[in-house]
Amino acid sequence: MAVSVLVDRHRIAARVEQMGRQITSDLEASMSEARSHALDAEEQRVVLIPILTGSMIFMADLIRHIPVKMSIRPVTIKSYHGTATSSHGATINGDVPTDLEGAHVLIVDDILDSGRTLGLLRRLFAAQRPASLRIAVLLRKDEASGRRQEHVEVEYTGFDIGDEFVIGYGLDFDGYHRNLPDIGVLRQ
Ligand code: IMP
Ligand code: MG
Repeated sequence: MAVSVLVDRHRIAARVEQMGRQITSDLEASMSEARSHALDAEEQRVVLIPILTGSMIFMADLIRHIPVKMSIRPVTIKSYHGTATSSHGATINGDVPTDLEGAHVLIVDDILDSGRTLGLLRRLFAAQRPASLRIAVLLRKDEASGRRQEHVEVEYTGFDIGDEFVIGYGLDFDGYHRNLPDIGVLRQ
């Protein structure tokens, strides 16, 4: 197995820090707008929803650049045994938050590929009428490659990549390689 590095750890760290700053300032803007509609700072909730397992490392680094009081409510998407590729129709495993009305919600995922996972979650959470709803993905595969089956608005993207299967920094191939510190492409 050979891995060629696509995005190294230093570029990842720099970009994640930038994303955290941008997210923080956007959250603060949304909260002050809600305050002008008579909601106290104390009543406002920020809920971060990491999509496990792929986003765990990205999320861990990202939240340390978002110095805002928040709760973290992970959602697990069922993975398909033996498959390496994306969800052919996403299935949620276990509970999802159902109390997001009025909350500022940030969904965090590793990669936007077919768009099925994030399309489903965006609809599910939007239906609860949150005060704000945004999505941050570390990676986004090129829509022009034809892999996207559902167009999904994503407010924050770390890196746009081509139609390649990537591993590392949380992303797996058959459950392995999530612990690689850089994002790489597997060459067999
Ligand atoms: P979707 O196809 O946009 O629904 O993406 C579903 C999930 O497939 C992502 O959250 C990843 O966990 C996984 N996935 C998609 N592309 C890759 C890849 O290149 N490497 C590793 N996992 C991927
Ligand atoms: Mg995933």
